[in-house]
Amino acid sequence: MNSQRHRRGQVAEVFRHRFHDRPTLWCRAPGRVDLMGSHTDYNLGYVLTLPIGCDTWIAARPRTDRSVRLYTMNLGAESGFSLDRIAPDSQQRWNNYVRGVAQVLQADGFKLTGFDGVIHSTVPLSSGLSSSAALECVTATVFEALGGWKLDSVRKAVLCQRAENQFVGVNCGVLDQYTSCAGQEGCALLLDCRDLSSRPVKLAPGIGVVICDMRSKRELAGSEYGRRRADCKEGARRLGVKALREISPAEFYRRAGELPSGVAKRCQFIIEESERVLDLAAALQHFDRAAIRRLTAESFDGARDLYEISVPAMQTMVQAMMQAPGAMGARQAGAGFGGCMVAFVEEAQVKNFAAAVREAYFTSIRIKPEIYPVAAAAGAGTIT
Ligand code: GLA
Repeated sequence: MNSQRHRRGQVAEVFRHRFHDRPTLWCRAPGRVDLMGSHTDYNLGYVLTLPIGCDTWIAARPRTDRSVRLYTMNLGAESGFSLDRIAPDSQQRWNNYVRGVAQVLQADGFKLTGFDGVIHSTVPLSSGLSSSAALECVTATVFEALGGWKLDSVRKAVLCQRAENQFVGVNCGVLDQYTSCAGQEGCALLLDCRDLSSRPVKLAPGIGVVICDMRSKRELAGSEYGRRRADCKEGARRLGVKALREISPAEFYRRAGELPSGVAKRCQFIIEESERVLDLAAALQHFDRAAIRRLTAESFDGARDLYEISVPAMQTMVQAMMQAPGAMGARQAGAGFGGCMVAFVEEAQVKNFAAAVREAYFTSIRIKPEIYPVAAAAGAGTIT
């Protein structure tokens, strides 16, 4: 609570310095970590996802003209644009998430108000915890509050995803924006990417979720992401379905021979991973340690051997995690290729787990990881 008050004081101070006034509106949107379901979203499968306490804030004050002026405390940079002429900013790329959201909202007929704003984020940048989606979703929330209209959270997520796909030019699925918009405090979400419905999943008391950021470079992520999408599309086409979600594991094993071997590996991973989402949701509700261990190991091994989104640091990290006290299971998170991993840990052991992972990972690889225990936070909204 105190740290939130402190954060608010700091942001207000920066706002006063930049814009010589006080903010009248405060909004926030969280980052996310996927607990199971790597790359299943764009295959219209399931994901078990958790909105986390790290979030992005915008403190805002409406303007009487049609400009949006923003300062980001994280990057120490400013950028502004007019709502009447929205073009990408080639210098301040972070601003394109804001511009993109403004553009798609206007294209859908929403009336937008200009504003001055200060952005402050505790979502680590470029770690695979969806700092981009958090910025998109908090931006939509600011426009919503200033415009006096209301979007339901699923529509808001889809519009923010569209901003990222069409304006920023990143061909992501809906997972990140959905989690940031539709999250509920205290619950993970079991998301069905085919009909965009979700249901809350409460983890059994005593299960801690810990994110381990490898702090290794994630260079390949962009281009390889596109290749994986293309492989899945080809698999679906050859199997005669719109998306891999339409194929059950049993049918896949029968028909895998129809596919080139590389494509078959990708499809196998996605089809099995989507099933694991349902199984892990049950295991986490029933505190089934054996199932948690087995399912996370299968997910990690599949990501490495079938979907091939692993890098050596991930192998080092998973070993450090699984040997640490209290570890029940560990796997990749986000798109893979480095970034963050996620572990399920006996809650009473979280501190010891973190200390052991820090030491083991650093000893093997000479990079200091960031370790964050996380709890499920609420989705995007105003801060009162
Ligand atoms: C990134 C994308 C998501 C999803 C994950 C992998 O976070 O933005 O849409 O595809 O990778 O599960």
